Amino acid sequence: MAEASNQIEICAKDDVSDGEVIRVDKGDLELAVYHVDGAFYVTDNMCTHGPGELSEGYLEGHVIECDFHQGKFDIRDGAVVAPPCITKIKTYKVVPHDTAVMIEAP
Ligand code: FES
Repeated sequence: MAEASNQIEICAKDDVSDGEVIRVDKGDLELAVYHVDGAFYVTDNMCTHGPGELSEGYLEGHVIECDFHQGKFDIRDGAVVAPPCITKIKTYKVVPHDTAVMIEAP
């Protein structure tokens, strides 16, 4: 399916099992893609606190814990949930699609 110019196909929904997070590199973007209860969320992969990759972290519900210093973010809006992080993580708007995880171009 052709994608609208303002949308980017990130991966197939089947690539991300429910309750899991994967890293996807797309052009200049390094992303973490999450699947929670049938819904998909996309954030930057690199933690705002340091060199941790959120795709290597621990996902519990809508909260991702960075495995570097155990900072936490809400993947729905990027808000910091636990220190030492102080800067929210960038989130991307997921566009509804039957089989693919699509985001609006940032
Ligand atoms: S690098 Fe993620 S909490 Fe420090």
